[in-house]
Amino acid sequence: METTLIILKPDAVQRGLCGDILHRFERKGLTIVAMNMMLISKEQAEKHYEEHKGKPFFDGLIRFVTSSPVIVLAVRGQNAIMVCRKLIGATNSQMAEPGTIRGDLGMSGSNNLVHGSDSPESAERELNLWFPDGNFDTTDRTK
Ligand code: CMP
Repeated sequence: METTLIILKPDAVQRGLCGDILHRFERKGLTIVAMNMMLISKEQAEKHYEEHKGKPFFDGLIRFVTSSPVIVLAVRGQNAIMVCRKLIGATNSQMAEPGTIRGDLGMSGSNNLVHGSDSPESAERELNLWFPDGNFDTTDRTK
């Protein structure tokens, strides 16, 4: 079993798409084990996206994710990191396949509704950042 870190970004919250997006993760068979709605600070956002520091889109990305509240989730399931990435779709929503969250619900290359950890290392780092107590339910209920 794996746990991954998902963020529903400001555009998902503002457009009222959180229910639809959460429903997609749940219908797939993944389990939401932690959820927190918050306005994130510039420092938190820069830490979360530290691998992108220096890239041309970095400042705009930080402005965007701190512009209004987000929902931060821990999502658990078998191969949850890969499964969530597939459900989310390609970074540029215009290129994302129909059937994916970005492919069905978005048109923007940067304001792309959802973030999902891209590797086990990122998931561990990001889960520690957003849920430092780590006290979410890790019971395997699929058995
Ligand atoms: P996310 O999956 O959260 O990971 C990094 C984020 O940076 C990405 O989604 C986009 O929001 C943003 N991003 C990545 N590439 C670009 C780009 N070329 N132009 C603008 N924003 C980008």
